[in-house]
Amino acid sequence: MSARIEVIETDITRLKIDAIVNAANRSLLGGGGVDGAIHRAAGPELLEECRKLCGCNTGEAKITRGYRLPARYVIHTVGPVWRGGVRNEEKLLADCYRNSMKLVKKYRLKSVAFPAISTGAYGFPSDKAAEIAVRTILEEVDIADMVQLVIFCCCNSECRKYHEKVLEKLRNG
Ligand code: APR
Repeated sequence: MSARIEVIETDITRLKIDAIVNAANRSLLGGGGVDGAIHRAAGPELLEECRKLCGCNTGEAKITRGYRLPARYVIHTVGPVWRGGVRNEEKLLADCYRNSMKLVKKYRLKSVAFPAISTGAYGFPSDKAAEIAVRTILEEVDIADMVQLVIFCCCNSECRKYHEKVLEKLRNG
């Protein structure tokens, strides 16, 4: 059964689901944006576990427990910094979604929520990022049979509309 895909506009740290994805940096030692919000909500044990992960390369993903978050796990992935689209940014962003879904499958998780990775401090154009995010997830969910719900958790209406538009286009051909 392929997963249900939803686009919502809320604070990802409030979601009571199996995993939320963090738009981290390569150190995995916290930061601003959604990274800061997740670490604040999860509490200090999250940083302690992240320290043991020894960082994460761009496009890759690593998993920790969620601690004080309502989510059971946090999947930390590092998006590309947008440099005009000439540094393989589109592939690296797709890798973030693909490698996060690999962990969803490996841990047999049923529900996962993604923020709009790289579209904040890393400057990736929101419309392009939404197209890559939705297209990659639609490719992946057929394979990750356990997952029942994938949420695109947007922080503003522009981001939500971009994801909804792409989902509509790709679903209805
Ligand atoms: N819930 C959902 N989405 C959020 C939240 C939240 N609580 N907070 C921010 N966002 C959204 C932003 O509006 C943006 O659309 O997450 C998206 C990603 O923005 P950033 O958090 O700035 O992440 P990114 O652009 O990938 O930059 C990562 O910023 O915070 C640092 O440590 C992080 O160095 C890394 C860089």
